[in-house]
Amino acid sequence: MRTTVGIIGAGPAGLLLARLLHNAGIESVVLESRDRAYVERRQRAGILEQGTVDVLRAAGAERMDREGLRHDGIELRFDRRRHRVDFPALTGGKSVMVYAQTEVCKDLIALQLKEGGPLLFEAEALAVEGAETDHPRVRFRHKGVEDVLECDYVVGCDGFWGVARAVVPAGRSSTFERTYPFGWLGILADVPPSHDELVYARHDRGFALLSMRSPSVSRLYLQVPADTDADGWSDEEIWTELERRFETDDDWTLRRGPITQKSVTPMRSYVHEPMRHGRLFLAGDAAHIVPPTGAKGLNLAVGDVVTFVRALTHRRETGSAELLDAYSATCLRRVWQAERFSYDMTTLLHRAPDATPFEDRLQLARLERIASSRAAETDLAEAYTGFPIG
Ligand code: FAD
Ligand code: DHB
Repeated sequence: MRTTVGIIGAGPAGLLLARLLHNAGIESVVLESRDRAYVERRQRAGILEQGTVDVLRAAGAERMDREGLRHDGIELRFDRRRHRVDFPALTGGKSVMVYAQTEVCKDLIALQLKEGGPLLFEAEALAVEGAETDHPRVRFRHKGVEDVLECDYVVGCDGFWGVARAVVPAGRSSTFERTYPFGWLGILADVPPSHDELVYARHDRGFALLSMRSPSVSRLYLQVPADTDADGWSDEEIWTELERRFETDDDWTLRRGPITQKSVTPMRSYVHEPMRHGRLFLAGDAAHIVPPTGAKGLNLAVGDVVTFVRALTHRRETGSAELLDAYSATCLRRVWQAERFSYDMTTLLHRAPDATPFEDRLQLARLERIASSRAAETDLAEAYTGFPIG
């Protein structure tokens, strides 16, 4: 098999990349190790930045405009109080969209299968060869049969556990990492959201987040110790703990409903530099991970693939490799801003197991500052709604 861009992985990064290349008239083949149902059902991110919404809309993902929920703010909850952050007022009109990663993937898969190049499920990349030559290859196994994909470029969109990152020789790469002593227990529940915007709550018992998937489905998260088994929490225990962490001095109440899914997500910050080796480029979780508190993971993946497509288009139109050569540095500037913001949000809202009373007071002072200073609040709103791509 032969193509221009070989894409490993059909998560949001790989799928959007294939679509943007198709729209630019560039051929690609996507290899995905799992089956379609698995990719379409994997519960993950839920918040799209303004820039991500614009890119998906231009790419042709039109269901998002009908079913996505536009959000103009979030609520910060601390010390039994509530503070709303108004995004458009603070950012000159920006907002975010609640539209689940599962739906983004479904839309992009449907577009690709209808109009785009080959998208092979159950096709596992085994190795990337010749990254330092003009003709890199991906060896893969599709439904039990080994094959080779010959390419001009390979983009590793294969997530944190993929094979692409390991192709960069250890002597030419650096990694920057932090793990956190807590994770998120996430649930989906068949009950209308108890608030019309997301609620990020800081509590002495730990962080809690109220989010949603639709007007009738709630998505909620609880900070739990890193090694927690989701099945160790009964539904009753989850609702009681959520109620405690969201409690306020007014008459706000949490609606309960049947829990349909629960799982624990570990929390990690990770950056691999550089994001390119020869003709192999890394995009999305293959190159970097953020803790979920700032809702940045999927949005970073979108920024990377937009940057790659701009650079490759530039190369084809002008003959200049300047933007391809700048790919890693361009992406990493935005990645590090998202790493910083995600770290800030995580340490602002979570309670470390060894937190001292001094640190508790500092968290409250930081929240108080956001609630009382337009400058501090604007900083949060700008970061949450998204940094510019490129
Ligand atoms: P992925 O979505 O990981 O996609 C990689 C794809 O590559 C997968 O489909 C995988 O099957 C495939 N693959 C792997 N190896 C191979 C191979 N060898 N050959 C072929 N295919 C391969 N972000 C948020 O903003 N908010 C959240 O609430 C949130 N929750 C998360 C919960 C979990 C459990 C995880 C893991 C991540 C979460 N994230 C969240 C992060 C967000 O989902 C990711 O940043 C986003 O999925 C990145 O997209 P991606 O395409 O780079 O990687
Ligand atoms: C969701 C996840 C996040 O990490 C976040 O900050 C906000 C919302 C969600 O899954 O809905």
